Amino acid sequence: MSMHEVNVTVNGTSYTESIEPRLLLVHFIREVLDLTGTHIGCDTSNCGACTVLLDGRSVKSCTVFAVQADGREVTTVEGLAEGGVLHPIQEGFKEKHGLQCGFCTPGMMMRAVELLEKNPRPTEDEIRWGISGNLCRCTGYVNIVKAIQYAADKMGGEEAVEMSGNGVSEADLADHQLTPGA
Ligand code: FES
Ligand code: FES
Repeated sequence: MSMHEVNVTVNGTSYTESIEPRLLLVHFIREVLDLTGTHIGCDTSNCGACTVLLDGRSVKSCTVFAVQADGREVTTVEGLAEGGVLHPIQEGFKEKHGLQCGFCTPGMMMRAVELLEKNPRPTEDEIRWGISGNLCRCTGYVNIVKAIQYAADKMGGEEAVEMSGNGVSEADLADHQLTPGA
């Protein structure tokens, strides 16, 4: 099979690789670049575990060919933290216990990053709709929603929590205000 040379910037680093045109982006990320934070849960575009950002837009990398990323920018979960400081969405999942086994978490966070980029003050319904393409078999989603609300709060969308009318308790709101750096 003929090989194609691609240049893809991943988490700010430029990579030039010779790959088969049939190689999926998720396999390029995991097996060629050895960035295994991006998971494979189904390979059929159902679970969202493989979600990454492609030019800032969330995509399921099991349904994108790596050659389609040529000349473009990819962000994976490894690219969220900066200088050892967690991204607010990572902090939210930690503070609100938004994970159990953690398998869905990288994809869930990458999806949430785009969601908050487009809508910094999402209601609970908007969050649930926004992550509806990402499946979690463990949590029941309640704490994932809280984690995303936490990140929205931390990133400056304080009204998100207050406007959502979603059963977030006063204790949770107090928790937001008392959390160091929140
Ligand atoms: S592995 Fe891509 S959607 Fe499940
Ligand atoms: S935390 Fe286990 S699948 Fe979501």
